[in-house]
Amino acid sequence: MTSEIVIIGGGVIGLAIAIELKLRGTGVTVLCRHFQAAASHAAAGMLAPDAENIPHGAMRSLCWRSRALYPDWTRKLEELTGLNTGYRPCGILAPVFEEAGGQRVGGEKLILSSPSSPSSPAYWLNKEAIHQYQPGLAAEVVGGWWYPEDAQVDNKALAHVLWTAAESVGVELKDGIIVEAFLQQQEQVVGVQTNAGIIRAAHYVLASGAWSNELLPLPVVPRKGQMLSVRIPEFVPELPLKRILFGQDIYIVPRRDRLIIGATSEDVGFIPDNTPEGIQKLLQAAIRLYPQLKHYPIQEFWWGFRPATPDELPILGTSYCQNLTLATGHYRNGILLAPVTAALIADLILSQKSDPLLADFHYSRFQSKPSTSTPMLTHSANFSNGHHPAISPQHSPLIIAGKTFQSRLMTGTGKYRSIEEMQQSIAASDCQIVTVAVRRVQTKAPGHEGLAEALDWTKIWMLPNTAGCQTAEEAIRVARLGREMAKLLGQEDNNFVKLEVIPDLKYLLPDPIGTLQAAEQLVKEGFAVLPYINADPILAKRLEEVGCVTVMPLASPIGSGQGLKTTANIQIIIENAGVPVVVDAGIGSPSEAAQAMELGADALLINSAIALSPNPAAMARAMNLATVAGRLAYLAGRMPIKDYASPSSPLTGTITS
Ligand code: FAD
Ligand code: GLY
Repeated sequence: MTSEIVIIGGGVIGLAIAIELKLRGTGVTVLCRHFQAAASHAAAGMLAPDAENIPHGAMRSLCWRSRALYPDWTRKLEELTGLNTGYRPCGILAPVFEEAGGQRVGGEKLILSSPSSPSSPAYWLNKEAIHQYQPGLAAEVVGGWWYPEDAQVDNKALAHVLWTAAESVGVELKDGIIVEAFLQQQEQVVGVQTNAGIIRAAHYVLASGAWSNELLPLPVVPRKGQMLSVRIPEFVPELPLKRILFGQDIYIVPRRDRLIIGATSEDVGFIPDNTPEGIQKLLQAAIRLYPQLKHYPIQEFWWGFRPATPDELPILGTSYCQNLTLATGHYRNGILLAPVTAALIADLILSQKSDPLLADFHYSRFQSKPSTSTPMLTHSANFSNGHHPAISPQHSPLIIAGKTFQSRLMTGTGKYRSIEEMQQSIAASDCQIVTVAVRRVQTKAPGHEGLAEALDWTKIWMLPNTAGCQTAEEAIRVARLGREMAKLLGQEDNNFVKLEVIPDLKYLLPDPIGTLQAAEQLVKEGFAVLPYINADPILAKRLEEVGCVTVMPLASPIGSGQGLKTTANIQIIIENAGVPVVVDAGIGSPSEAAQAMELGADALLINSAIALSPNPAAMARAMNLATVAGRLAYLAGRMPIKDYASPSSPLTGTITS
């Protein structure tokens, strides 16, 4: 398929740009992994440069400009679709408690102080004024700021309206398409590798929010925000809040029939779900600010991932590829910034008109000195140095449960002849994840004494495994011990477990039912579960559905070195998986490792083939290179197989007598 412009990401940023480009006459396709799984749906919808206290400078100008575009932009979208975006210029009130600086100004006589900026005024309201203006605030509120220009939009409604508008103007929308890598030649993107094959266009826009770093090494990381809503009860005659309340670490956004309460800000990677701690904090702060809501029925909890950058500013504009434009990293203000981003990016792509404002948001501000090492073989391939391999595995790191790993080879600690051999092999493999049998450490089995000291656990991520467990119950118990073990080694946040339930001692084949039962329980207990399974596509899907963070199908029985005996099934698992597929067990040689990666496996776990080689360290290095080679080959794509020979040098254009 070839379209003029392909946009990666179906959040508000991707969709707003798509509509703008289409309305200016370009063919546009949006590729979107999952329309609903986007920060745009999780947000609060505040258009709040003043309340968010955006510092002076380019970012404030950008935010103000976007807020000013909102009335016309939403009207146009509503006309296109006949749907409501819930845009409301309601203003934001930011009450202040005494200890937060209210005392300083709390005694002032003025009801309204003079505005701070003519175009975007901020008024100080003293205690009497604020309580009169907004009844129901906590008695401790001693004053507050009133930002009349700030506003809100119903972001869920907006996302739906944008999708509908994009459809109605003829943007091609493809939900369920996962972009896996950019295919690049010199300074051009020549296509994107997706789960549905290669898609090509003349120009590409990266708008994949918090996930941008999966495709390009941009410093965009997820910053999780938890939210909840309460329903306005029937005994309250009308909407009790007319404007947004913006307190310290809390905001309350009134919608038609409910109040949205947000939001936490957590640096926990892509770990999903609401937590009791997060929700408790929100409720406590919300009730403290606006006590009457403690009686309101709770309606819904949700969470989302803000796309955060180190300086909290978006990344907008050109990239190191001539035909790739960046529009990501909008952090706390992507809903607000959607209209201005769309206008500026469309100008840039279609008229090569770079608004002076964009200069402050260029990716090159994160540029570090060019790396002198070979990008392909280091973990620090640098987006900013301008020299890029056509495709690099570093451009698509392995992400498991929100944790990013550059190496796609996992190893183990078993079967080595000595601790030194193990240390050297693990170092040579360049792996970042090492699995450890919890039971063997407990029982101090040979090679497992002194393991804590043998490896540098500040650099290696421990993957405790439940080897030796024959039932689900045993595996659950051992998994809990594994978590404690990781904690003792300083990995406080390590909740990973490689789940093995193996009743069959001859072939060491895993028990699918026990594995599923144990996985369900461990996921409930907050583990990131990586289950070892037979290469069974249905089981893999079931495990994914119960919340496992990878699936680990076997290539052939553990320790057999028989290689890939389950290729066809592994292929089906890979095709259908929404989580990384780690081929585990049975790989005996580097060529088999490369083959598994060429199939599209996300990673490999190899222990015996390394430990049992006469030269384990050399074999570990070979496995590392094979894993990288296989990954590169997968990203590059193999040539089609032909029935007949085809000469390497073209026959056309040769000189004939
Ligand atoms: P997203 O909305 O996250 O969309 C990214 C899209 O890319 C998704 O559709 C995803 O499926 C897709 N994608 C990712 N990777 C791939 C891939 N490899 N292949 C294909 N598709 C892919 N902003 C405000 O302005 N006001 C607020 O009040 C506000 N409140 C917030 C509250 C919370 C709790 C959170 C989490 C965010 C809040 N934000 C707010 C921030 C705002 O939501 C984001 O900045 C904005 O949604 C970013 O939009 P986006 O389109 O870049 O990313
Ligand atoms: N802008 C509000 C938030 O990100 O929580």
